[in-house]
Formats: sequence, structure tokens, C-alpha cells
Amino acid sequence: MSRFRRLLVTSALPYANGPLHIGHIAGAYLPADIYTRFQRAKKRDVIHICGTDEHGVAITIAARKEGKTPRELVDYYHENIKKSFENLGIYFDNFSRTTRPVHYELSQQFFLKLYNEGYIEKREVQQFYCPNDRMFLPDRYVVGTCPYCGYEKARGDQCEKCGRWLEPTDLINPRCAICGATPELRNSFHYFFLLNKLQDRLKEWLESKSKKWKPNVVKFALGWVKEGLKPRAITRDLDWGVPVPLEEAKGKVLYVWFDAPIGYISSTKEWNPERWEEFWKRDDTRLIHFIGKDNIVFHAVVWPAMLMAHGEYVLPDEIPANEFLNLMGEKLSTSRGWAFWVDELLERFPADYIRFGIAYILPENKDSDFDPYEFRDRVNKELINKYGNLVSRIFGFINRFFDGRIPERSDLTPRQKEAFDHLVKIIEETENAIENFEFRKALYTLISGAEYINAYIDRIKPWALIKENPEEAERELFLMVNMLRSITIGFEPYVPFSTRKVLSAMGIDEVEWDKAKEIDGALAGRRVENTGPLYRKIEDHQIEELVELLKKRASGGPEVEEKKEEKQYITYDEFMKVDLRVARVKHAERIPKSKKLLRLIVDLGDEERQIVAGIAQYYDPEDLIGKNIVIVANLQPRKLMGYESQGMLLAAGEEPILLTTEKWNAKPGERIK
Ligand code: MF3
Ligand code: ZN
Repeated sequence: MSRFRRLLVTSALPYANGPLHIGHIAGAYLPADIYTRFQRAKKRDVIHICGTDEHGVAITIAARKEGKTPRELVDYYHENIKKSFENLGIYFDNFSRTTRPVHYELSQQFFLKLYNEGYIEKREVQQFYCPNDRMFLPDRYVVGTCPYCGYEKARGDQCEKCGRWLEPTDLINPRCAICGATPELRNSFHYFFLLNKLQDRLKEWLESKSKKWKPNVVKFALGWVKEGLKPRAITRDLDWGVPVPLEEAKGKVLYVWFDAPIGYISSTKEWNPERWEEFWKRDDTRLIHFIGKDNIVFHAVVWPAMLMAHGEYVLPDEIPANEFLNLMGEKLSTSRGWAFWVDELLERFPADYIRFGIAYILPENKDSDFDPYEFRDRVNKELINKYGNLVSRIFGFINRFFDGRIPERSDLTPRQKEAFDHLVKIIEETENAIENFEFRKALYTLISGAEYINAYIDRIKPWALIKENPEEAERELFLMVNMLRSITIGFEPYVPFSTRKVLSAMGIDEVEWDKAKEIDGALAGRRVENTGPLYRKIEDHQIEELVELLKKRASGGPEVEEKKEEKQYITYDEFMKVDLRVARVKHAERIPKSKKLLRLIVDLGDEERQIVAGIAQYYDPEDLIGKNIVIVANLQPRKLMGYESQGMLLAAGEEPILLTTEKWNAKPGERIK
């Protein structure tokens, strides 16, 4: 933890305009929750701060669509989102709203400070007005071609393709997003944040982070800064938002991306009016923002610039931004219904399954894909078969051999201590990975730990040992319970509900990470409570129903279900259709004018076949003659360089190695199954 004495962890404030989906969870909230649970278990002074982002046109437009007022909309979704987080076990020390008075007050003060210190300037602007819809068009309601990357459907606030923050007037060939008409420019005035004044400081600061931060974040932010920062309008003509605190600015509100990040501060203040300044104003606070990649520009450039201009607050130390999560090979789209909502998953699966399944594929360094079939396999095969199995095995032994009491045998032999030490290494590796924001790696490490303990049990065979040497069996079981306790502590940040059940069955109510690295003598003699069945396997029909639901909702969406099923399994009958045979090479020669192809004549027992194969660069024809190889005998014949190939030979790898049958003397024509 170096010079830092406290951790201030934030997760991007979700817009209160719709329910949470798996993309949100994978982008910021689950990694942030894993991280803060871990830090809490490390007994560090950590808080996790969030809330709903309730301003901006994202809200007003959604409200209009649903026939509600913005207030009604955000009231509804604030509660909805908060509940989903709770049910998923995403824990915040405070979950606020940007429509609360504490937030209005802080945002206005923030604005005034920057204004008074010369970082904000009033400017005359021309703004797009749609004569058809008779309104000033919000930025994102102007569409056109991005001047940076040429993307034709760029929105006036940001280009989805290259991620740049845009002004509507930057767009080439602007159109009204509501009706498609060409909007006209009208005069108004706005307040501009003079980002250019902070250009040098920002560049220097970002460069100081360039070795530490994820490359995607630094590259993006530095790239933008080096292009040269321009003043940006941070107010809007809208009647929903934080009013600009100036007499002359009636009817104007702060731009949502100006007030929202201040929500991190106001939510902290709401959490604890006594301690918030300690967290925000002392430079031994480590500020960490968890976000998705579409938020990088604002968190790595604009927000730090705001903080620098303000001067009293700490700057972010880390911005572990994740890439995007796709769904069955396609980009998530809430408007198309191509997403899983957190609530509909929670109706079907325990929260820990969802957390485990998503943690397993977090898009940490590149986009990743959520596939329901893989989700089933990961949960069934990794969480349940490995970790869950461990719990039932070890608790089962305790119940069967020792009447439910953990043996009082803490006098471990050196060999047993060594076995425990290996697990300690695994816990330490997990710890390092989590500290480095490598949550997938940490999870895989934990799974390898569960495998290790299972293998240890297999080696010791307590069921036999209890008869041969009961005393030694007691010692082993004491050790195994300790191993289980350690790995369970390790898994807690990922699957808190089930691990806490396991721990509390052992009489442990507080998760203390460092205790995972020691034998716990207090366990000796303790009675193990029944956890009840910890997990139940996900069944195929549950997954099929889920995919069905998605497909129905996203009608017009891709037909992915069958494809995916096929990709994973073929039936036995399908396999049996492939006629694999042993064939002996009788003759082999190069095909003239072809670098790659050889022509083989092979003996199949009762017939001969001609096979053309692309192995000329790797095999000399002479070496093949007399060898037994494996061919697919019922592949439709096809012509290669004028020669008909009546089958295909099997080979492995890039530089193909022929499958042969030399060791077992097979006869030509013999079928392979
Ligand atoms: N509401 C924004 C989004 O969902 C994120 C806001 S993060 C904050 O993309 F910094 F502004 F709070
Ligand atoms: Zn229009």
C-alpha cells in the first residue's frame, strides 16, 4: 500500500434511465466489488462509493419515451438499480443520487470555484435548432460524420467509433436525430471549461502514469491530450439538471458530464459528513475509479482537469477501465433488447453464479463474450465441481468420521505444513493479482487452489486412512479443514454468498484475508454446522429458456442458439458418421507445379484410394511409403490441381504431423472409433 493510508474506490455512476445489464456489471461494478471486498478483508481503510447519474438528455429523452417526467423516471430507476446491486451482492458504502441537495450544492460550489479562478469563461455560441421539432437540439440529438475518424453515425457529444468527445458543430453534414432534417444554427451563450489551460499539467501527469496504468487507458487519454485540448461547453439549455449558479444564466444547467463525477464527492460527503474531507483532501488517499471503456475520456482527462483546476482534491491514482462485454458474439444493444438484464438472471440463478460466470470472462484487456452455454459450463465445472465439491467432501468426512466435530489435532507434521504452505503461495498469488486489478488471473489461481486441495484429498484418501491410522486421519482432516477455510476466504470477493455460508458453518463470521495464510488453531474441536446443499448444477433447460427469451426479445437478432450448441457437441451418431480408417501408403509423389501438394495412393484393405494432401513442405514422399496413416474415408471427393482426392488424411498442428498407427500394427482398412 506504500504511502497510502486509505482507499477511495468509486464505480461509474449508472444512468438512472434503465435497468442494469451484464455489460454494466462486467465493465465496472463486479471488478470494483471484488477489489473492495478484498481490501476490506485485508482490513484496510476502504470505501466503495457510487450512486445514480440522474441528469442529462439520456434521462430526459428516456422519460419522454416512457411518457414520464424525468423525476418519475429517475425515482423509479434509482430504486430499481439499487435493488439489483443489493441482490447481486455488489456492496457500496454509499449509493447516492445526483439529484440530492448535497450534490447540487457541491456541484455549484465546484463550478463557482473554477469560474472565479479563471478556468471557466462565458462565450457566445451558435447552437443547432431544429425548425421542424421547434427546439434546441441536445448534443447527442445531432448526428453526422465524425471529423476524426469519418464514422458516419457519430453523435454530437461523442463518437462511438473512436471515442472522441465532440461538439455538435464539429460534425460534418449534421442532421437532426429526431426527424432527420438539417438543423439551423441559432445564437445562445454557454460557459466553457478552459481545458487548454491545463494541457501541460495533464500531459505531464498522464505521462507519469504511463507505466502504471492499463495501456488502453493511457494511450487513449494521452493521444487526446497531445492533439491539443480546446475549451469545452459545460452548460446546456435544458430544464433538467443542476442550475448554473449565476444570475445571468437563468434556464441553463450544468452539462451532465460536469456534474456527474462530482457525484463521487457528494456521495462521499453524504456517506460521512465528518470523514469525507479526509478521503478527498489528503494526499495519502488512494483514489481509484472503476469504469467501462466508454468513460475513459471523461475520467482520465476531463475529470482530472476539473480536479486540478479546483485544487483542493486528490487526483485519481488508478483508472482500471474494462473493455466491452459482448453477448453471444454480438455487441450489446439495450435498444434492440440484445442484453441480459441483471434481474432476469437473478430470477433464474443464485447471485454467486452470475458473479462467477462474469468474473471468469471479465473484459480486462480486450472485449470478451458472454455465452450462456459457457456460463453453464463454467459454473458447473469450475465453481461447483471444483470448489463446491471440496466443501461437500471435507464437511462430509468430518460428519462421517468425527460426528461433525473438527479433530483437535493441530500438531501437524512437517510434510503437512509444507502441503499447507503450497496453498499459502496460491493465496499470495491471488492477492498480488487482485492488487494489480487482474481479477481473472486471481480467479484462475483460486480455482487451481481448489484443484490442488482436491488432489491432496485423493492422495491422502481419508476414507482408507481412518481405518489404518485414525490418529493420522485426524491430523489430515484438521489440515484439510484449514485448507478449505483458506481457499474459501480467497473466493469470498468473487462468490460472497456461498463462501460466507461455508465460513459461518465453521464458526467464522468475519472475513480476514491474512488469516488464510495461517493455520487456525481455533478450529480444533469446533462443530461444523450443516450448510445445506451449497450449489445446484445449472440444467440445460434453464439455459435454453434463457436463450429463447433473449431471441424472442431481440427479434431480428441472430440465430445463435443452434450454432452454439453444435459448436460444443456432436451426438454419438453424428460422430459415427465419420468413417475413419487406417490406410497404408503405397505410393507417394509431388504434384508438378505445386509446392504444397502430394499425391498418395493408399491401401484400404479391399480398395485403393487416391488422396491429395497439403503436406509437401513437411514430408518427403519417399518417407511416407509403407506408413500407416489415418484417413476420413467417406469425405465427398474433390479435385485439387486436377487430381481427385478421395478422402482426407489426419494431421495435427500448424506444421502438420501425420497421425500414424505404427505402434499398434493396425491392418489397412480397419475402422477407427
Ligand atoms: N452515467 C455514465 C454512464 O453510464 C457514467 C458516469 S460516471 C461519472 O456512462 F463519473 F460521471 F460519475
Ligand atoms: Zn428535427
